[in-house]
Amino acid sequence: MPGIVIVGAQWGDEGKGKITDLLAEHGDAVVRFQGGNNAGHTIVRGEEEWKLHLIPSGILYPGKRCVIGNGVVIDPKVLIEELDALRARRVDVSGLRISANAHLIMPYHLLLDSAGEAKLGSLQIGTTRRGIGPCYADKAARLGIRVQDLLDEKILKKKIVAAMEPKRLSLRPFEKDPTLDLHTMTEEYLTYGHRLEQHIADTARLMWELLDEDKKVIFEGAQGAMLDIDHGTYPFVTSSNPLSGAACVGTGVGPKDIDEVWGISKAYTTRVGAGPFPSELHEEMGETIRRRGGEFGTTTGRPRRTGWLDLVALRYAARLNTLTALVLTKLDVLSGLDRIQVCTSYRGAEGAEFEDFPYHQTVLHHTTAQLTELRGWSEDLGECRTLSDLPDGAREYLQFIEEHIGAPVTLIGVGPGRDQVVWTDAGRASMIGPGAGASAAA
Ligand code: IMP
Repeated sequence: MPGIVIVGAQWGDEGKGKITDLLAEHGDAVVRFQGGNNAGHTIVRGEEEWKLHLIPSGILYPGKRCVIGNGVVIDPKVLIEELDALRARRVDVSGLRISANAHLIMPYHLLLDSAGEAKLGSLQIGTTRRGIGPCYADKAARLGIRVQDLLDEKILKKKIVAAMEPKRLSLRPFEKDPTLDLHTMTEEYLTYGHRLEQHIADTARLMWELLDEDKKVIFEGAQGAMLDIDHGTYPFVTSSNPLSGAACVGTGVGPKDIDEVWGISKAYTTRVGAGPFPSELHEEMGETIRRRGGEFGTTTGRPRRTGWLDLVALRYAARLNTLTALVLTKLDVLSGLDRIQVCTSYRGAEGAEFEDFPYHQTVLHHTTAQLTELRGWSEDLGECRTLSDLPDGAREYLQFIEEHIGAPVTLIGVGPGRDQVVWTDAGRASMIGPGAGASAAA
């Protein structure tokens, strides 16, 4: 069972970092395949907390191979800062490999991201302003600068000139910005090249070698299904494909190399940035969840929008990704609620009921969540380690979700600590080794 993809099944921030960190313990390599430093992972190990944006979470295990695949967009300044911070805390980063084909975020991408948002005014997407969209746009326009270009001064300079030329008009307001000086930019990026050279590799070949040797490779997604540029709530999406299918293209392997797809969802829903969110809570309950769940962005610090778990969107994500398992994080945040609501369908502006995610944005924008009420539980879940430790209300909640999604819940988060998880038999059997398979419903 060599290839396991971990993806966000909502709008990002589902707690993929913690789950990847847990699963990485049982894997040989961890690979990022899309997105960039718009992502943010917080990993708690004992008293220590780690915040990673680009480097796969597996880096905290000595000797694990960590790969940044070709589908990722890399801000080299951020990557080097992250490497330095890890080194300063005595983490061995020598196992990191960076695809020579990955695209680089350039200073003008950052400026264009902010300028683009400002221009959109009230229609703005609420991007992380990390230059992600403009970088992927240059990649598609074949004007991108790739990691390998850092190793060839002449080519680097030529490519920067070619990339900036068609943007002359949009870059005009930044004419005096020192970061746009051709000489300074080239020198700066050549320095990054020297710093990163030891990590640059043909990572697709490395993937083939690992998989051919039957090594367990964990593909770590960033963001989530509903932010997918093709299938998400466009245009309020990111500029890459956070779906399991992208794990192949973003690293250079084929679909047959993927054996399992684990989707991560919170026990409720959050979203940052603008865009439709049918199960959003605007009143007191939304604030309660935000406060209890610490729902503030790792990357931007923005307060996240909060809502009940949306099973219409989650079912859609399960199908888009062909989920083989569902991980439910932050179940403990819902403790102490008398009743819990779950969105099981949408009601359209004209009264139509949607059990499936509507394809038309106008329809989606005007839907309201139809809620089913379940009983809650009062017990603290922090010490629960098995399904039978969970109160009846929590188990019923998991069973309800499994029935609606059609994938077994394999792992449940019951607190921020690394050990605060409940493995189901099915999860343990598939990730750690043979044993009796059973679902949360059992
Ligand atoms: P961008 O990826 O910075 O272009 O932002 C596009 C949209 O995706 C915005 O709504 C962001 O808030 C959202 N987004 C990007 N990365 C993440 C993430 O890691 N978690 C949650 N939302 C994200």
